[in-house]
Amino acid sequence: MCGIVGYTGHVQAAPILLDGLARLEYRGYDSAGLAVRNGSSPAEVVKAIGKLYHLADKTDQGRALPGTCGIGHTRWATHGDPSMVNAHPHVSGNCSGSGSGTVESDVVGVHNGIIENFTELKEKLLRHGYSFYSETDTEVVVKLVDYYYKKYKIGPVDAITRTMVRVRGSYALALMFKDYPEEIFVARKDSPLVIGTSEDASFLASDVPAILKFTRSVYYIDNLQVGRISPGSVKFYDLNGDEVQLPVTEITWDTAAAEKDGYEHFMLKEIHEQPKAIRETLGSLVREGKITLEETGLTEEMLRGISRIDIVACGSAWHVGMASQYVIEDLARIPVRVELASEYRYRSVPLAPDTLVIVISQSGETADSLAALRVAKERGAKTLAVVNVIGSTIAREADHTLYTLAGPEIAVATTKAYSAQLIAMDVLAVQLAAVRGIITEEQTAGYLAALEAIPDQIGRILEEKERLQWFSSKIANTHDIFFIGRGLDYAISLEGSLKMKEISYIHSEAYAAGELKHGTISLVEQNTLVIGVLTQGNLFEKTLSNMLECKSRGAYLMGLTTNGNFSVEDSVNFTVYVPKTDEHFLASLAIVPLQLLGYYTSVNRGLDVDKPRNLAKSVTVE
Ligand code: AGP
Repeated sequence: MCGIVGYTGHVQAAPILLDGLARLEYRGYDSAGLAVRNGSSPAEVVKAIGKLYHLADKTDQGRALPGTCGIGHTRWATHGDPSMVNAHPHVSGNCSGSGSGTVESDVVGVHNGIIENFTELKEKLLRHGYSFYSETDTEVVVKLVDYYYKKYKIGPVDAITRTMVRVRGSYALALMFKDYPEEIFVARKDSPLVIGTSEDASFLASDVPAILKFTRSVYYIDNLQVGRISPGSVKFYDLNGDEVQLPVTEITWDTAAAEKDGYEHFMLKEIHEQPKAIRETLGSLVREGKITLEETGLTEEMLRGISRIDIVACGSAWHVGMASQYVIEDLARIPVRVELASEYRYRSVPLAPDTLVIVISQSGETADSLAALRVAKERGAKTLAVVNVIGSTIAREADHTLYTLAGPEIAVATTKAYSAQLIAMDVLAVQLAAVRGIITEEQTAGYLAALEAIPDQIGRILEEKERLQWFSSKIANTHDIFFIGRGLDYAISLEGSLKMKEISYIHSEAYAAGELKHGTISLVEQNTLVIGVLTQGNLFEKTLSNMLECKSRGAYLMGLTTNGNFSVEDSVNFTVYVPKTDEHFLASLAIVPLQLLGYYTSVNRGLDVDKPRNLAKSVTVE
């Protein structure tokens, strides 16, 4: 997804903007640009295709761009290919083919999001004499602001609010007006945007890590609000142009949390942070042996009144839901449906006040998950967000929020946030069973003891990571990998397969082991790698027989099971063991070797592990 940054203060802006964009690289992009102005002089715009260092080199690490007020952008192309002319910033006037140079335009802007009705707005502006140099929706919205600014001879805030009324879609906008030197104007709807202030400077960015080096005091601007940013201060306005007050949030986590700490990649660091992420999350939910969900606002009476649970999410968060379904249904006897947010939001799902819709999201900004949350609220369901990013949109819009305390997760491929979500959902499952009287206090204590042992058990798995590193070198040139399992092992297979394919680019599928012979087994041929997840005792033999069906057709088998199941070595080519624990919670252990396998395979293939191609850390567009 695109990243935007801004700075206005009393030192050179460009180096600060480049530093901020570098901390947003994990969001995914294919071009970048800056617009900087020196006092009341016109803005200088510089753009570059590809990695950010091209833009940094072009501007001598920003030193070649004088000026103390500016905005910057990394573009993940949605409208128009990755080209210089489509790269942001965009201007209200004309622009040279290179997209760079001094611009005399009244308005210069950057944008993260999608303007859905940009075509009709473009036609309106063409009728009013505007011309266009790019294929982007952003150029349209910048020119629309300019149109209202000139037509009604109003100030920037009013021109922006008028634009917001006409525009459909999502946006985090940052705009500079020629007549308002040293000021930056922002507007937000659905796309993430945070504003920070220090004593004599102000900052804006799509995400906190981009400004944390400069300030910990941030404002989370709400949907359909406008900000007027000047050095060291900011004012906020609602859609009517009336000033509103926003609380300041002090960021507590440190910049080291957003650094690699000596690991080669953020992903490897975050895999190793899983014990800490789980301890922190558990510690916030269990105190002196008792589960406390009070901070979510979910009372025991509300938990007892739930008759159905819909878990709605995307990607790995959806895989957490697939695992939690088995745990909640088995422990709490509540029917659970696990839904892809991108489908759920468009279905006519009957909901009622005794349905709990749980939206799981690391970023708390995923567009489809946010839309599904809104649909659930409109239809009268109670909503709970399980989110990692504090203050994110999904967290703020849900009726109840349960924060996972994994800390900032930078690698696009989620690991520690996934694990923290799993544990949070396990605790919720135990609490649902306990308050409904389905499990005793003694059983509750036993489950909590098993959960509290997970971090150390993960530590033991990490001590043996070299075996996975060795095996990944054997499979680095494999073309197809199947992950299979039954029950909870199927849910683990889903996440293992995504970890593999999203960072190694090897085609992979996860299959319910019992489903394989209904078609897909036709793809199994000599040396096809089949990874069987075998942690669930009652399903062990059935899945093993499915694996042997593949072996008889030439497959190479890896078995992933719990210590003690040594008989599996008679059937498979390579075995990975994880410590035994209560079978409800084995996803938290079994996923770790699969994360490592995906990681080392990507490294062996010389790929950009933390920033895989085509992907973004937070998918804030549909
Ligand atoms: C997981 O490794 C991927 N990065 C992706 O599937 C991710 O889980 C999905 O986009 C959901 O993101 P969210 O948790 O921030 O909503």
